[in-house]
Amino acid sequence: MKNIILTGDRPTGRLHIGHYVGSLKNRVEIQNEGNYDKMYVMIADAQALGDNHDNIQKIRDNIIEVAIDYISCGLDPNKVTIFIQSEISELTELTFYYMNLVTLSRLTRNPTVKEEIKLRKFETSLPVGFVCYPISQAADITAFGANIVPVGEDQLPMIEQTREIVRSFNSLYGETLVEPKEVLPKNEICRRLPGTDGNSKMGKSLGNCIYLSDDEKTVNQKVMSMYTDPDHIKVSDPGKLEGNVVFTYLDAFSNNEFIKKYAPEYNNLQEIKDHYTRGGLGDVKVKRLLASILNEILTPIREKRAYLEQHKSEVYDILFKGSDEARKAASKTLNNVKKAMGIDYRNSLA
Ligand code: TRP
Repeated sequence: MKNIILTGDRPTGRLHIGHYVGSLKNRVEIQNEGNYDKMYVMIADAQALGDNHDNIQKIRDNIIEVAIDYISCGLDPNKVTIFIQSEISELTELTFYYMNLVTLSRLTRNPTVKEEIKLRKFETSLPVGFVCYPISQAADITAFGANIVPVGEDQLPMIEQTREIVRSFNSLYGETLVEPKEVLPKNEICRRLPGTDGNSKMGKSLGNCIYLSDDEKTVNQKVMSMYTDPDHIKVSDPGKLEGNVVFTYLDAFSNNEFIKKYAPEYNNLQEIKDHYTRGGLGDVKVKRLLASILNEILTPIREKRAYLEQHKSEVYDILFKGSDEARKAASKTLNNVKKAMGIDYRNSLA
């Protein structure tokens, strides 16, 4: 079987380090391992409109930001097809046909959608378009015949929904669509990085993110104000690790090389943790270590970003070229879908 990979993000803001460890890093690794026939990365602007239809400018502005984040992190347009969702109108058409295969109660049972409805206070005024986005996501995935979808944990219900649509489509109309499988980041901590304030989710609206585009000073400030252990007042006090964001981030971002470079008195992270829980290790010192590690990871990303910001037309070229290519693939699938359903009238009636 061919390996076709598809993944994407909503362009609602610049990407942050939660996206980086939760999916971007994984994507770049997959890209470089090269074990695929085709890899697509989609900027899901149409999906983002589900709760931003009254704020189109935000989505317009962030398409380029997300594209710059992608390329700065190492996604290579020569290896992967980066494209804009709304450029592929076949996706909307597929969504419409798939809508008949899903019930409203199934959609509102989706745990991620449920959480988002609460967050957006949509309980009494739920836009139809918004609640249908898992169906449109099934269209995204199946349009390209993707069998592998690298995502964060919150996207699992969408992949499950896609599999259900594929099964019901194939059993009704004949074997046409491919069932996808998710790939989660290997490191458990990376699957859902908390915000700098200790909130379980890192989110733009929560103001608790470190962005890939943050400069060194901003990163230092954000790390210095991070939530740690509120009972760890004096350096000599024993400190707690649970819920301590600085240590959660160290779990996600540090390795022995970083420790050797920035905290040579320790051999590994465990020794730092032991010292902290024993008492005698202050927050500031651990925060400085984390800030150094984050800044080292972000430096090359910032440098690429600075170049791309000055060459936006190159980035748009990449996106439009990618969209043309993606559209060809999606169009083939739409033809197959219509044929399987028996609505390819021009080919079958005349
Ligand atoms: N829902 C994803 C997000 O919130 C974006 C997305 C849209 C996506 N379509 C997709 C991800 C298809 C993977 C596959 O970021």
